[in-house]
Amino acid sequence: MTVTLITGGSSGIGEATARRLLDRGHRVVVTGRDEDRLARVAKELDVLTVAGDTTDYESVTAAVDTALNAYGRLDNVVANAGFATHDTLADGDPERWRGMLLTNVLGPAYAVRAALPALRESRGRVVLVGSVAGVKNTPGNIYSVTKWAVTALAENTRMLVTGWGIGVTLIAPGRVDTPFWPGPVSGPALSADDIAGTIDWALGQPPEVDLNTVVVRPKGQAV
Ligand SMILES: NC(=O)c1ccc[n+]([C@@H]2O[C@H](COP(=O)([O-])OP(=O)(O)OC[C@H]3O[C@@H](n4cnc5c(N)ncnc54)[C@H](OP(=O)(O)O)[C@@H]3O)[C@@H](O)[C@H]2O)c1
Repeated sequence: MTVTLITGGSSGIGEATARRLLDRGHRVVVTGRDEDRLARVAKELDVLTVAGDTTDYESVTAAVDTALNAYGRLDNVVANAGFATHDTLADGDPERWRGMLLTNVLGPAYAVRAALPALRESRGRVVLVGSVAGVKNTPGNIYSVTKWAVTALAENTRMLVTGWGIGVTLIAPGRVDTPFWPGPVSGPALSADDIAGTIDWALGQPPEVDLNTVVVRPKGQAV
């Protein structure tokens, strides 16, 4: 039995990943803040849901405990929850950056911290959903700064846990057509299922393989 916890599994990439992994036979636990969105996913998919904010450590440990109580193990954590304020250092609302910073940086760190004991037992995997914005700079983009931190978190985590038999993969998507974008996505875009396929591929690597960094853009995305 393979058990996977996905943060932010009630929409977009996280939800598509839950669908893919269920098809593969994983047992899946998903989190998210909005209970109605989670209820819709629970109605459509055979997943366990845990309502909570990834910036609240107790709710992250509750999600790990849900997996352990239900299935007795945890094999993978996909730290996916995140959002962008879609503004810049010149025009943004500084108060909105706080939540973005906490969700995008502290959230995945909490997910790793909470899941590590179980992953150490299962010799499992961590997947961090970063961004092309975390390997390229764009003008005045604080979201990009948070995703550079995720890139660093991936390598810091890898160095810590590789001796424990745990794999760490940073998946850095380019533009993906999801509710992440406030309006219609402009320019070429991947589907959420494209990235779900990449996550599925990373999780399905042979046990001895540690796949570290995958950047995935739609053809036609130049930056
Ligand atoms: N779409 C893109 O073009 C793109 C490109 C590169 C990287 N990414 C990254 O991919 C990841 C998934 O984004 P997406 O495109 O799938 O967006 P999405 O459709 O908006 O999904 C985001 C998910 O994260 C959850 N979430 C957000 N903040 C949370 C928090 N503090 N605590 C718990 N759950 C939270 C959301 O549910 P609630 O709001 O109900 O909590 C939702 O389930 C993000 O990390 C994003 O930065 C996206």
